[in-house]
Amino acid sequence: MLAAHLARTGAEDPLDNLEVGDLPTPEPRPGWALLKVEAASLNHHDLWLLRGVSASPIEPPQVLGTDAAGTVAAYGPDPPAGVPEVGSPVLLHAVISDGTCPACRRGEELYCRRMALFSDKPYDGTLAEYVAVPAANLVPRPAELAAADAACLPTAYLTAYRMLFTRAGLRPGSTVLIQGAGGGVATAALLLCRATGITAIATSRDEAKREAALKLGAVAALAPDRGTAKQVLGLTGGVDAVIETVGEATWDISLRSLRPGGAVVVAGATSGGDPSAQLNRVFYRQISVLGSTMGTRAELERLMVLVHASGLRPLIDRTYPLAEARAALSRMAAGEQQGKIVLVP
Ligand SMILES: NC(=O)c1ccc[n+]([C@@H]2O[C@H](COP(=O)([O-])OP(=O)(O)OC[C@H]3O[C@@H](n4cnc5c(N)ncnc54)[C@H](OP(=O)(O)O)[C@@H]3O)[C@@H](O)[C@H]2O)c1
Ligand SMILES: [Zn+2]
Repeated sequence: MLAAHLARTGAEDPLDNLEVGDLPTPEPRPGWALLKVEAASLNHHDLWLLRGVSASPIEPPQVLGTDAAGTVAAYGPDPPAGVPEVGSPVLLHAVISDGTCPACRRGEELYCRRMALFSDKPYDGTLAEYVAVPAANLVPRPAELAAADAACLPTAYLTAYRMLFTRAGLRPGSTVLIQGAGGGVATAALLLCRATGITAIATSRDEAKREAALKLGAVAALAPDRGTAKQVLGLTGGVDAVIETVGEATWDISLRSLRPGGAVVVAGATSGGDPSAQLNRVFYRQISVLGSTMGTRAELERLMVLVHASGLRPLIDRTYPLAEARAALSRMAAGEQQGKIVLVP
């Protein structure tokens, strides 16, 4: 089968570690399923892997990709009860937990000792024609939710959902600042805010992406510079929360834009992970710094209900054939995308 995979490590240009070529089609083991991928979406996680940055050991060949939607092709021996029928449309829950550690037994899958995403060893990724997955990670997909739209949900949209609603606890009427408006998580956050009556301000380095953010419902879209926080304070008196995935480049703006008692929710650090902590500002303004990662299966199911009820459709930047994965990943590495990039086998 065709697969976009990490074939080697150490190349100067991380994209030279990528190969798009044939690998054996995986066999599902007991309790697992074989997913026929109809659409997979890219995430920054794929670039981190190509750069050799991963929470698990890196051992090429390693198929990239955390997100996919498609149909169930087959099950391994002894499929668990209640799984979707072979041939039915599904979406993949991207978080794999072992189900047995103390956190899992408490129902806290995101705190699992062995939590992993597809493409983290020992699991294969989704940028392929087929991927073997634990049957427990299959989520039935309503037929009217197209595979390309569904494939955007498991990482970027779920991460944004948990940041906004679970971690920051935002409600209709809340105000939020979303950093790096062109990104997958950021555009997801913008669309979720529009669907739920949350007032959003966006930042982006790029004029065209700022224009696009306004079209996605932001009440203002600002360039990230010295005056940005002042503008946010002028518009809102200080936002309730900041959705922060950019990191060092925007951290100062994030802390300065909050109302006293507000929260910065951080799920990524694309531009670097060691900004000045500004502890005086944090304690004096009583700021909460909330880490957030992915989301639970229950949150993914609620997200699907929200998508269905509100008519929200993920913003797709471009769709490429799987064979053109290199061009798709280059676009993401250059930060040129506005929304999600989707690959179709
Ligand atoms: N913890 C989790 O569960 C989780 C889940 C998803 C993603 N993440 C992390 O969150 C980050 C965003 O992920 P994503 O998939 O949304 O990535 P993405 O689509 O590549 O978006 C990254 C965005 O960051 C913005 N940016 C601003 N300053 C930047 C700079 N100096 N260098 C590079 N980018 C800059 C860009 O927006 P503008 O061009 O508009 O400024 C860019 O579009 C990544 O670091 C990813 O690893 C974490
Ligand atoms: Zn566990």
